[in-house]
Amino acid sequence: MVIHRIFRRESGLLARLVRAVSSGDTARAELLAESVEEYVTGLHRHHGLEEELIWPLLSDRASGHQEVVELMEAQHQTIDATLATVSTILPIWRERAHKDAGELLADALDEHRITLLDHLDQEEKLVLPLIENHLTVEEWDRLGKRGLETIPKDELMLALGAILEDADPQERAYFLARVPAVGRLAWRLVGRRRYARRCRLVRDDPYTAQAGARTVFTEAPGLQVGAGAAPFRTYGSPHS
Ligand SMILES: [Fe+2]
Repeated sequence: MVIHRIFRRESGLLARLVRAVSSGDTARAELLAESVEEYVTGLHRHHGLEEELIWPLLSDRASGHQEVVELMEAQHQTIDATLATVSTILPIWRERAHKDAGELLADALDEHRITLLDHLDQEEKLVLPLIENHLTVEEWDRLGKRGLETIPKDELMLALGAILEDADPQERAYFLARVPAVGRLAWRLVGRRRYARRCRLVRDDPYTAQAGARTVFTEAPGLQVGAGAAPFRTYGSPHS
Protein backbone atom coordinates (compact mmCIF):
# COMPACT_ATOMS: atom_id res chain seq x y z
CA MET A 1 0.00 0.00 0.00
CA VAL A 2 1.30 3.37 -1.02
CA ILE A 3 1.26 5.22 2.29
CA HIS A 4 2.85 2.33 4.16
CA ARG A 5 5.48 2.17 1.42
CA ILE A 6 6.50 5.75 2.27
CA PHE A 7 7.09 4.94 5.92
CA ARG A 8 8.89 1.68 5.16
CA ARG A 9 11.17 3.47 2.68
CA GLU A 10 11.87 6.63 4.68
CA SER A 11 12.46 4.95 8.04
CA GLY A 12 15.21 2.81 6.53
CA LEU A 13 16.77 5.67 4.60
CA LEU A 14 16.85 8.08 7.52
CA ALA A 15 18.68 5.70 9.84
CA ARG A 16 21.37 5.06 7.22
CA LEU A 17 21.75 8.71 6.30
CA VAL A 18 21.99 9.87 9.92
CA ARG A 19 24.62 7.22 10.66
CA ALA A 20 26.72 8.43 7.70
CA VAL A 21 27.00 12.08 8.83
CA SER A 22 30.52 13.14 9.80
CA SER A 23 31.01 14.40 13.31
CA GLY A 24 30.54 18.16 13.41
CA ASP A 25 28.76 18.53 10.08
CA THR A 26 25.92 20.59 11.48
CA ALA A 27 24.65 21.70 8.06
CA ARG A 28 24.05 18.10 7.02
CA ALA A 29 22.59 17.29 10.45
CA GLU A 30 20.18 20.21 10.15
CA LEU A 31 18.96 19.03 6.75
CA LEU A 32 18.42 15.47 7.97
CA ALA A 33 16.88 16.64 11.25
CA GLU A 34 14.24 18.45 9.20
CA SER A 35 13.59 15.23 7.29
CA VAL A 36 13.27 13.26 10.51
CA GLU A 37 10.77 15.81 11.82
CA GLU A 38 8.75 15.63 8.61
CA TYR A 39 8.74 11.84 8.85
CA VAL A 40 7.59 11.87 12.50
CA THR A 41 4.85 14.41 11.73
CA GLY A 42 3.68 12.39 8.73
CA LEU A 43 3.47 9.13 10.66
CA HIS A 44 1.61 10.77 13.57
CA ARG A 45 -0.82 12.29 11.07
CA HIS A 46 -1.42 8.95 9.37
CA HIS A 47 -1.97 7.10 12.65
CA GLY A 48 -4.24 9.87 13.90
CA LEU A 49 -6.48 9.47 10.86
CA GLU A 50 -6.62 5.69 11.28
CA GLU A 51 -7.60 6.17 14.91
CA GLU A 52 -10.25 8.72 13.97
CA LEU A 53 -11.69 7.20 10.80
CA ILE A 54 -11.06 3.45 10.86
CA TRP A 55 -10.82 1.99 14.36
CA PRO A 56 -14.21 3.33 15.61
CA LEU A 57 -16.04 1.90 12.59
CA LEU A 58 -14.38 -1.48 13.00
CA SER A 59 -15.13 -1.49 16.73
CA ASP A 60 -18.80 -0.93 15.94
CA ARG A 61 -19.16 -3.29 13.04
CA ALA A 62 -16.56 -6.02 13.55
CA SER A 63 -17.18 -6.58 17.23
CA GLY A 64 -15.99 -10.17 16.96
CA HIS A 65 -12.54 -8.83 16.07
CA GLN A 66 -12.17 -6.25 18.79
CA GLU A 67 -8.84 -7.80 19.75
CA VAL A 68 -7.44 -6.75 16.35
CA VAL A 69 -8.44 -3.12 16.93
CA GLU A 70 -6.96 -3.25 20.42
CA LEU A 71 -3.75 -4.73 19.05
CA MET A 72 -3.49 -1.91 16.49
CA GLU A 73 -4.11 0.73 19.17
CA ALA A 74 -1.46 -0.82 21.40
CA GLN A 75 1.01 -0.95 18.51
CA HIS A 76 0.40 2.72 17.73
CA GLN A 77 1.28 3.52 21.34
CA THR A 78 4.46 1.44 21.16
CA ILE A 79 5.43 3.23 17.95
CA ASP A 80 4.70 6.59 19.61
CA ALA A 81 7.16 5.66 22.35
CA THR A 82 9.89 4.89 19.78
CA LEU A 83 9.20 8.21 18.06
CA ALA A 84 9.41 10.00 21.41
CA THR A 85 12.91 8.55 21.86
CA VAL A 86 13.87 9.74 18.38
CA SER A 87 12.50 13.22 19.14
CA THR A 88 14.41 13.37 22.43
CA ILE A 89 17.78 12.58 20.84
CA LEU A 90 17.21 14.65 17.69
CA PRO A 91 17.91 18.16 19.12
CA ILE A 92 21.05 16.92 20.88
CA TRP A 93 22.48 15.59 17.61
CA ARG A 94 21.20 18.52 15.60
CA GLU A 95 23.08 21.07 17.68
CA ARG A 96 26.62 19.76 17.22
CA ALA A 97 26.28 16.70 15.01
CA HIS A 98 28.45 14.76 17.41
CA LYS A 99 29.14 11.25 16.13
CA ASP A 100 28.01 9.53 19.34
CA ALA A 101 24.69 11.37 19.31
CA GLY A 102 24.29 10.45 15.66
CA GLU A 103 24.82 6.78 16.48
CA LEU A 104 22.25 7.01 19.27
CA LEU A 105 19.76 8.65 16.93
CA ALA A 106 20.36 6.07 14.19
CA ASP A 107 19.91 3.27 16.75
CA ALA A 108 16.63 4.86 17.88
CA LEU A 109 15.47 5.05 14.27
CA ASP A 110 16.41 1.39 13.78
CA GLU A 111 14.44 0.44 16.90
CA HIS A 112 11.50 2.47 15.67
CA ARG A 113 11.65 0.78 12.28
CA ILE A 114 11.53 -2.74 13.73
CA THR A 115 8.35 -1.84 15.63
CA LEU A 116 6.89 -0.01 12.65
CA LEU A 117 7.45 -2.81 10.13
CA ASP A 118 5.89 -5.35 12.46
CA HIS A 119 2.85 -3.10 12.85
CA LEU A 120 2.46 -2.37 9.14
CA ASP A 121 2.73 -6.08 8.27
CA GLN A 122 0.10 -6.99 10.83
CA GLU A 123 -2.17 -4.13 9.87
CA GLU A 124 -2.12 -5.24 6.24
CA LYS A 125 -2.69 -8.87 7.19
CA LEU A 126 -5.31 -8.46 9.93
CA VAL A 127 -7.07 -5.14 9.32
CA LEU A 128 -7.45 -4.99 5.55
CA PRO A 129 -9.75 -8.04 5.43
CA LEU A 130 -11.93 -6.43 8.10
CA ILE A 131 -12.05 -3.19 6.13
CA GLU A 132 -13.10 -5.08 3.03
CA ASN A 133 -15.94 -6.71 4.92
CA HIS A 134 -17.14 -3.88 7.14
CA LEU A 135 -16.44 -0.49 5.53
CA THR A 136 -17.91 1.05 2.40
CA VAL A 137 -15.71 2.27 -0.42
CA GLU A 138 -16.61 5.86 0.54
CA GLU A 139 -15.59 5.32 4.15
CA TRP A 140 -12.27 3.85 3.13
CA ASP A 141 -11.80 6.58 0.56
CA ARG A 142 -12.12 9.19 3.27
CA LEU A 143 -8.77 8.13 4.73
CA GLY A 144 -6.88 9.07 1.56
CA LYS A 145 -8.92 12.22 1.02
CA ARG A 146 -8.49 13.49 4.57
CA GLY A 147 -4.85 12.47 4.43
CA LEU A 148 -4.28 14.86 1.53
CA GLU A 149 -6.43 17.59 3.11
CA THR A 150 -4.48 17.59 6.37
CA ILE A 151 -1.17 18.30 4.64
CA PRO A 152 -0.30 22.02 4.87
CA LYS A 153 -0.41 23.66 1.41
CA ASP A 154 3.28 24.54 1.34
CA GLU A 155 4.17 20.89 2.02
CA LEU A 156 1.79 19.40 -0.53
CA MET A 157 4.25 19.06 -3.42
CA LEU A 158 6.85 17.23 -1.34
CA ALA A 159 4.16 15.03 0.22
CA LEU A 160 2.77 14.23 -3.20
CA GLY A 161 6.24 13.31 -4.39
CA ALA A 162 6.67 10.93 -1.46
CA ILE A 163 3.33 9.31 -2.28
CA LEU A 164 3.96 9.01 -6.02
CA GLU A 165 7.57 7.90 -5.88
CA ASP A 166 6.87 4.18 -5.60
CA ALA A 167 3.28 4.24 -6.84
CA ASP A 168 2.24 2.11 -9.80
CA PRO A 169 0.18 3.72 -12.59
CA GLN A 170 -3.18 2.84 -10.99
CA GLU A 171 -2.15 4.14 -7.61
CA ARG A 172 -0.73 7.29 -9.18
CA ALA A 173 -3.99 7.96 -11.02
CA TYR A 174 -5.96 7.36 -7.82
CA PHE A 175 -4.05 9.96 -5.85
CA LEU A 176 -3.75 12.54 -8.59
CA ALA A 177 -7.52 12.32 -9.12
CA ARG A 178 -7.94 13.47 -5.53
CA VAL A 179 -5.74 16.53 -5.95
CA PRO A 180 -7.50 19.69 -7.25
CA ALA A 181 -6.72 20.55 -10.90
CA VAL A 182 -4.55 23.46 -9.84
CA GLY A 183 -2.53 21.12 -7.64
CA ARG A 184 -2.03 18.66 -10.50
CA LEU A 185 -0.81 21.50 -12.69
CA ALA A 186 1.55 22.69 -9.96
CA TRP A 187 2.86 19.15 -9.59
CA ARG A 188 3.61 18.90 -13.30
CA LEU A 189 5.15 22.37 -13.57
CA VAL A 190 7.20 22.59 -10.38
CA GLY A 191 6.32 19.91 -7.86
CA ARG A 192 8.03 16.87 -9.31
CA ARG A 193 11.24 18.78 -9.98
CA ARG A 194 11.17 20.23 -6.47
CA TYR A 195 10.70 16.75 -5.03
CA ALA A 196 13.53 15.29 -7.11
CA ARG A 197 15.81 18.15 -6.00
CA ARG A 198 14.92 17.56 -2.38
CA CYS A 199 15.62 13.82 -2.74
CA ARG A 200 19.01 14.46 -4.30
CA LEU A 201 19.87 16.89 -1.52
CA VAL A 202 18.83 14.55 1.27
CA ARG A 203 19.78 11.18 -0.19
CA ASP A 204 22.92 11.88 -2.14
CA ASP A 205 25.01 11.62 0.92
CA PRO A 206 28.46 13.12 0.44
CA TYR A 207 30.19 10.56 2.65
CA THR A 208 28.96 7.19 1.49
CA ALA A 209 27.78 6.54 -2.01
CA GLN A 210 25.78 3.60 -0.72
CA ALA A 211 23.67 5.64 1.68
CA GLY A 212 22.52 7.89 -1.12
CA ALA A 213 22.35 5.28 -3.81
CA ARG A 214 18.65 5.71 -4.30
CA THR A 215 18.54 8.92 -6.30
CA VAL A 216 15.24 10.01 -7.71
CA PHE A 217 14.94 11.68 -11.09
CA THR A 218 11.99 13.50 -12.52
CA GLU A 219 11.86 10.84 -15.21
CA ALA A 220 11.11 8.09 -12.68
CA PRO A 221 7.73 6.51 -13.57
CA GLY A 222 6.24 7.30 -10.16
CA LEU A 223 6.94 10.99 -10.62
CA GLN A 224 5.24 11.44 -13.92
CA VAL A 225 1.83 12.99 -14.35
CA GLY A 226 -1.26 12.01 -16.29
CA ALA A 227 -0.66 8.32 -16.86
CA GLY A 228 -4.36 7.92 -17.59
CA ALA A 229 -4.87 4.70 -15.69
CA ALA A 230 -8.34 3.61 -14.68
CA PRO A 231 -9.61 4.90 -11.35
CA PHE A 232 -8.52 2.69 -8.51
CA ARG A 233 -11.63 1.50 -6.75
CA THR A 234 -10.76 -1.70 -4.97
CA TYR A 235 -10.11 -2.25 -1.33
CA GLY A 236 -6.65 -3.12 -0.22
CA SER A 237 -5.85 -0.05 -2.05
CA PRO A 238 -3.47 2.70 -2.13
CA HIS A 239 -3.78 4.77 0.92
CA SER A 240 -3.43 2.95 4.19
FE1 LIG B 1 -1.43 1.90 11.74
